[in-house]
Amino acid sequence: MTPDAIFQVAYGFTAAKTLLACSELGMFEALAESTLTSEELADRMGVPERSASLLANAMVALGFVELADGGYRNSPVSEKFLSGTTQADLRPMLRFMNRITYPQWGELEVAARTGERSTVDYPTEVYSTGMEAINAGTAAALTAVYDFAPHHRVLDVGGGTGSFLTAIIHRHPHIHGTLFERPEVVTLARPGVDLVAGDYLVDPLPSGHDAVILANVAHHLSETQTVQLLENVRSSCSSDARLLLIDFWTDPTHTQPMIAALTGAQFLLSSEVGRLHSADEMTGWLGRAGWTFDRHVPLNGATSLIVAQAA
Ligand SMILES: C[S@@+](CC[C@H](N)C(=O)[O-])C[C@H]1O[C@@H](n2cnc3c(N)ncnc32)[C@H](O)[C@@H]1O
Repeated sequence: MTPDAIFQVAYGFTAAKTLLACSELGMFEALAESTLTSEELADRMGVPERSASLLANAMVALGFVELADGGYRNSPVSEKFLSGTTQADLRPMLRFMNRITYPQWGELEVAARTGERSTVDYPTEVYSTGMEAINAGTAAALTAVYDFAPHHRVLDVGGGTGSFLTAIIHRHPHIHGTLFERPEVVTLARPGVDLVAGDYLVDPLPSGHDAVILANVAHHLSETQTVQLLENVRSSCSSDARLLLIDFWTDPTHTQPMIAALTGAQFLLSSEVGRLHSADEMTGWLGRAGWTFDRHVPLNGATSLIVAQAA
């Protein structure tokens, strides 16, 4: 037996933080479609040469930058997702992780001891655009896995910028989308959907929808709050409605999928009551709130979809 696994995980944060810093400092934009020496790279990034070469060499070691012609260039994955030259832009996700997640995780033992959420302050725009980038793959998977064609009015509760609705309407232009979000997020919403500002734990939800999405919402809520929200959705939607629940639904032990279990500590930092819920738990809560479990299907990464129909 060796301690290699401990070293690998203990140093793991250095890989994450170096990637976040390189993106924040504009390394991958500087290297877009170019090969640069460390001096040229330093100049474009606005940092000393020592910083540029230490950071770029770490990115070479991780496979995000390549050595070429005496200089550095983006690897294909960085060119596609981090250089800002394509539609598949993950820079808002890294900005979210650098400015929100990373500082929050510095408070993990405090949150674990006290049960109180993180005090890190952040702009709503960084949160919402980052969340949209993080879940872009999930939105694409949802439209591929679930057939929205029979639906007419889709409501996304806590739907962030409305990116799930936008993906659905792009594929099914006959669908009318409604986004229900907190007032400060509604102002950031994408065009093309109806906007309703409110608090999903307090305010009535917009009525008359035949499909309702709750994506990455339940993990911020307790069992009582989740059941109450499921009941509120049930009483606001049409009698033949489908409910689409997207989250890190775990196995009954809450230890798989692995990425979901690892992400679980995030809910100590972002909520006083949130936690990972298992698919079995959610199935039981659906029954208490007037819904019938229909199916559970994988989406993207550790996220999956539970479909329910009005009982
Ligand atoms: C983790 S994000 C998920 C966003 C989006 N559904 C997705 O999966 O990408 C949770 C969203 O719920 C919204 N939210 C949190 N509490 C809320 C409340 N009480 N009422 C309405 N929206 C709320 C937040 O503004 C945030 O956009």
